[in-house]
Amino acid sequence: MIEVKNVSQTFQTARGPFQALADVSLSIPKGDFVAIIGRSGAGKSTFLRTLNGLLIPSQGQVVVAGTDITKLPKRELQKYRRSVGFIFQQFNLVTRLSVLDNVLHGRLGYLPTWRGLLGLYSDRDYQIARQQIARVDLSAKETARVDSLSGGQMQRVAIARAMAQEPTLMLADEPAANLDPVLSEEVMRTLRRFNDTDGVTVVINIHTLELARQYARRIIAFRRGRLVFDGTPEELTEELVDEIYERKEMLA
Ligand SMILES: Nc1ncnc2c1ncn2[C@@H]1O[C@H](COP(=O)(O)OP(=O)(O)OP(=O)(O)O)[C@@H](O)[C@H]1O
Ligand SMILES: [Mg+2]
Repeated sequence: MIEVKNVSQTFQTARGPFQALADVSLSIPKGDFVAIIGRSGAGKSTFLRTLNGLLIPSQGQVVVAGTDITKLPKRELQKYRRSVGFIFQQFNLVTRLSVLDNVLHGRLGYLPTWRGLLGLYSDRDYQIARQQIARVDLSAKETARVDSLSGGQMQRVAIARAMAQEPTLMLADEPAANLDPVLSEEVMRTLRRFNDTDGVTVVINIHTLELARQYARRIIAFRRGRLVFDGTPEELTEELVDEIYERKEMLA
């Protein structure tokens, strides 16, 4: 269970302070699948970065399983972040390394640094990595270099790497933005499957409203840093969508 309490994020910019998140409060129960929508600059990525402790909010708390992660000492924060998988639009893989090596990187948080540097993974690490590679249907490509794969395959490697962390929370920032519609669906289906079978909580930024409606259990929307919608796909009416994306205002 994650509880976001009155979180604000103010950035100092050349033009003065800018509030990217304004007094955001919500809770995300374990096993939820939340899609975040909103215009460009609405605060979606900032919110995700706050959830994994990459950004410490200017105000407010992020309480995960009873612990306020905004106040954790560095070491504890690292431990928390090990339990959070993060999937990016640009995949963030080491392209000259093999699929297996990339997925093994998901285990790094569990190794002492020196073992990680030497690539001294345990048998269990290998077992977990291979399991996750099989689950995204890439066993045949295990030894292939990532730069020989297609975009859709690369994103599956990124998902397998995140799953190898054995995360309780999976964050994804526009994971399908660089993929064609068929592959975008595949990414969503894969995330939903992990959500269904492993109970991993998923929070995903997505700009394709249809995919959000189809795969998420819950949709939240940001508009200029404020939480302006929190409900089921069914509750998200066209009128609300217009408001979230400021469509009427643009036409006026
Ligand atoms: N480190 C930073 N310093 C200053 N401003 C920032 C910083 N990070 C984000 N912002 C600003 O905060 C606002 C929200 O950014 P954010 O990346 O969260 O938007 P987003 O909803 O993810 O947009 P997009 O759909 O384009 O990815 C933007 O106006 C952005 O320029
Ligand atoms: Mg973003």
